[in-house]
Amino acid sequence: MRTKMVAGNWKMNKNLQEGVALATELKKAVKDPKCAVVIGTPFIHLASVAELLKGSPIKVAAENCADHEKGAYTGEVSAEMVKSTGAEYVILGHSERRQYYAESYEMLAEKVRLALANGLKVIFCIGEVKEEREAGRQNEVVKAQLEGSVFGLSAEEWKSITLAYEPVWAIGTGLTATPAQAQEMHAYLRGLVAARFGQQVADDTTILYGGSCNEKNAAELFANPDVDGGLIGGAALVAEKFLAIIAAR
Ligand code: PGA
Repeated sequence: MRTKMVAGNWKMNKNLQEGVALATELKKAVKDPKCAVVIGTPFIHLASVAELLKGSPIKVAAENCADHEKGAYTGEVSAEMVKSTGAEYVILGHSERRQYYAESYEMLAEKVRLALANGLKVIFCIGEVKEEREAGRQNEVVKAQLEGSVFGLSAEEWKSITLAYEPVWAIGTGLTATPAQAQEMHAYLRGLVAARFGQQVADDTTILYGGSCNEKNAAELFANPDVDGGLIGGAALVAEKFLAIIAAR
């Protein structure tokens, strides 16, 4: 059976003290979750939060890593550095990175390669923008994103990949994909994974939904057979909301 997961993506929110306070609250409340729980924090929080969560079922993720191994890349943070903080995951391919920081398929393929080479698990985000959905092009868009960055991996490497389907029109907008839209896309994605890696690997692949997923709509989204959990932005910044989403999984 594949892993069910609720992952938070704090984005560029919370200073270090606020982040530590939120992680402390979550640690107290999350003792024996029915699903995997991950929190994605800014780089500067990683070491403190990972240390604080030692012995807790909650795992820590970076929200990005560099597309180079090491060296003269001022301001960048390598996958190896992320790993050295105690973080176990990295979120890659988020639409905000693709859109605002021009992350290309090739660059993301390299980030994924470096993350895996350094023992990190990857939450890889894909999703179409509003105009693409309106034109009925969502399937071809996500297929190209997978083919461009992660379908070159081996089946063994793929075991470290969690997919997150995040329709860009739903992120931070309060517009959520309907449970039917999410299920339809997730089933399509699982079919693509099956065609590339085989049915067993596809059945074992965790596919999260993200985009205005909150404590009110999570249960309905998670009730779909191919929706294995959520990648949560805004609602992950408030402990009681994030905890309610975990409980819904
Ligand atoms: P949101 O963000 O839950 O605030 O829509 C989700 C994400 O971007 O991962």
